[in-house]
Amino acid sequence: MKHILAAIVTILALGAMFMIYQSDREVNKVGEISKMIAKSEIKVHLDNTAPVQEESAASREASKADLEKEQEKKKKELDEKLQALKNKAGNVAAFKVSPLYKQKCSSCHGVNGGGIIGPKLRGLSAETVYKDLGDFKSGVRKNYVMYGLLSKMNDGQLKELADEIGTFEQKYKAQQ
Ligand code: HEC
Repeated sequence: MKHILAAIVTILALGAMFMIYQSDREVNKVGEISKMIAKSEIKVHLDNTAPVQEESAASREASKADLEKEQEKKKKELDEKLQALKNKAGNVAAFKVSPLYKQKCSSCHGVNGGGIIGPKLRGLSAETVYKDLGDFKSGVRKNYVMYGLLSKMNDGQLKELADEIGTFEQKYKAQQ
């Protein structure tokens, strides 16, 4: 009799444990489902806010452009002031030279051919300069710096530069 009772209690206990286990799984499932819902909500939320973000990016872009415009305006104003000062100074005014001369020659011969490291070019005739350049290029007249520089230039450019330098004296006088 005792054995039978013990067996019934054991079965009941096992059944209860099983039921608890089952309900635990249900709870887990509910948890998982609510997590999934939460995730999808986040997605929907993001989808909804995406266009709003784009809009603010566009407006940010617009204000950036405004800022750049403002900065450009200020820079222009400064440039104008600087130019006005330069004009006032007067005596440092230089005549305009070609970009080629400015880039390749002015560092040594001066912005207006006045001479720095290299000799003064202003006052030389176009013919003289052209001959000098040809002599440097061919090596008849040996100068490492001038040779290296001119070896990369074609005859048309030499002629152009010679013709321009030939006008320096006249332009310089006109400035005074
Ligand atoms: C890195 C410096 C340097 C640069 C850049 C340079 N020169 Fe010279 N140049 C010299 C020097 C130094 C001499 C003197 C060489 C000598 O007499 O042997 C010279 C000599 C000359 C002479 C001969 C002047 C004279 O009265 O004897 C002419 C012309 C000349 N350069 C033209 C040019 C031209 C044009 C350019 C640009 C394409 C140029 N140079 C670029 C340094 C330079």
